[in-house]
Amino acid sequence: MLSIYPVVKITHACCALLTLLLFVWRGSLAVDRPPISRRWLRWVPDSVDTLLLATGVALVLISGQYPFVAGWVTLKLAAVLVYIALGFVVFRFGRTRGQRKLAWLSAMGVFFAIVWLAHFRQVPAWFG
Ligand code: HEM
Repeated sequence: MLSIYPVVKITHACCALLTLLLFVWRGSLAVDRPPISRRWLRWVPDSVDTLLLATGVALVLISGQYPFVAGWVTLKLAAVLVYIALGFVVFRFGRTRGQRKLAWLSAMGVFFAIVWLAHFRQVPAWFG
């Protein structure tokens, strides 16, 4: 394995932490009053998320743990898609405060499932 791997992995994990902090903060603003008006609160999270995804793809390619080959990567990718969809509900499509709050809290639950999968690299028994 290339020696660049730990650097990419640490960058990926730092982006994950940063994206969570930003999501908790701007999510709490959006639950009460969307859309978010502060400009930097849009482009900073977008940049962090782009780096998170790019380093995720790089880790897949370098480590050879591909989706649909390694079960945990498949499940993690599916969970990332659910997390993104819930983000759309929080920031764009949620009509009521209740909808946005439920999506915001659910997204945080999904986020921790993603981190759990990344760390333990095991799939639950029901996934096969
Ligand atoms: C919300 C999105 C994501 C979060 C929060 C996240 C979080 C993490 C964390 C915390 C780790 C380090 C785990 C550890 O070693 O303890 C990790 C590793 C990893 N992630 Fe992600 N990740 C995300 C998205 C992605 C995506 C989209 C991909 C693939 C396309 C990906 C692929 C990987 C791979 C391959 C590893 C390395 C595991 C290993 O060293 O064997 N991640 N992720």
